[in-house]
Amino acid sequence: MTVGRGPQGIALLGATGSIGETAQRVVARHRERFRFVAMTAHGNLAGLKTAAATWNPGFVGLVEPGAESLPAGWGRGADCLIEAARHPDASVVLNAVVGAAGLGATLAALGAGKRVALANKESLVVGGALVQRAAIAGGGEVIPVDSEHSALLQCLAGRVGRAGRDGAGLLPVAGVRRFIITASGGPFRTWDVERIRAARLADALNHPTWAMGKKITVDSASLANKALEVIEAHVLYGVPYERIEVVVHPQSIVHSMVEFEDGSILAQLGVPTMELPVLYALGYPDRVEDHGVPRFDPVAAAALTFEAVRHDAFPTLELGIAAGRRGGAAPAVFNAANEAAVSRFLGGTLSFAGIPAAIAASLERHGDLPGEDLPALLAADAAARTYVQEFR
Ligand SMILES: NC(=O)c1ccc[n+]([C@@H]2O[C@H](COP(=O)([O-])OP(=O)(O)OC[C@H]3O[C@@H](n4cnc5c(N)ncnc54)[C@H](OP(=O)(O)O)[C@@H]3O)[C@@H](O)[C@H]2O)c1
Repeated sequence: MTVGRGPQGIALLGATGSIGETAQRVVARHRERFRFVAMTAHGNLAGLKTAAATWNPGFVGLVEPGAESLPAGWGRGADCLIEAARHPDASVVLNAVVGAAGLGATLAALGAGKRVALANKESLVVGGALVQRAAIAGGGEVIPVDSEHSALLQCLAGRVGRAGRDGAGLLPVAGVRRFIITASGGPFRTWDVERIRAARLADALNHPTWAMGKKITVDSASLANKALEVIEAHVLYGVPYERIEVVVHPQSIVHSMVEFEDGSILAQLGVPTMELPVLYALGYPDRVEDHGVPRFDPVAAAALTFEAVRHDAFPTLELGIAAGRRGGAAPAVFNAANEAAVSRFLGGTLSFAGIPAAIAASLERHGDLPGEDLPALLAADAAARTYVQEFR
């Protein structure tokens, strides 16, 4: 890994997305400390051109450029992600790709010994064991960007082992009795079951506290996102599923909590902006001085409230956690079925109630497929997607 003096090099995968743009806002405030050395997007040529013109990274790549011609020197195709993830000037790879498509880049970056600031939670859900092995073999590390897992990491400060060495993530932590992962509850928190089943796309995209990409916004409405996060927490820190709880916290100020073996609980708080966990992951283990986000005012916030999850109203959460417990290819099947179902919901060919129905049917058929290596996981992923695309 060649890392010169001066600002730390960041490869930004998914530069045109919600997290990608958040990262650009954060880095713009810390140019003396960070710079982008590689950037990728999927098909958004105009957005990537704007980002590249702003940051002038050494490598720029578009995964699916279609018929359009690209500026000279740009990369194209799925290999772009791998090339950016292994970029010699990058010490940190911020993986902000959405979906299982991000897994290969996570593995490549860890194999090259990089720190992966991981927003792409699907990498850990689909290929948790592979990610662990890649970190150990390559000497890389995973620092979560998801606000809940960033909160857990901050609460666990000093206790987290690093695969291969002893830094952050991907090894069991000692002394933890319980993780309490918070969920905003999404836009349907107070809706009755029948109304949720018939929810329209505009309703699902109307998130009360977070502004995010469309896929994760729908996942937040169904609580699929929380299922992915429970699996992510299990993979990152080795805490058994029966000791990971989800609690609804509508204000999204407490980002998660850790209960230790003596009964003491640490929580991490902050205003709901992804700028905080992005900056924490980029600067880890340092705290970078920053005044870019609104300050939390406890008096103005007044009440922080917590509620139980209504499992009858949000069946996707239990489906995902059960898939995590089942192991093998089941988490990859859950993820792929969910991605395909959300894509159909976004396209208007599946109802909101159809999302858990399609996932449950796919898990029934594909949940026991083998999942011991990448080809097996990709085959299970493909089987689930094909099935859900035709699900009625
Ligand atoms: N948004 C949040 O606040 C938030 C919070 C926590 C975790 N996350 C996680 O962060 C990840 C990104 O979420 P997001 O909300 O930023 O998503 P998003 O707004 O949809 O952006 C996704 C980014 O990935 C690129 N991309 C999409 N499909 C791709 C593919 N097949 N191959 C390569 N690149 C692809 C997109 O490029 P184009 O623009 O060219 O399509 C875009 O740059 C997700 O895993 C999500 O769960 C997000």
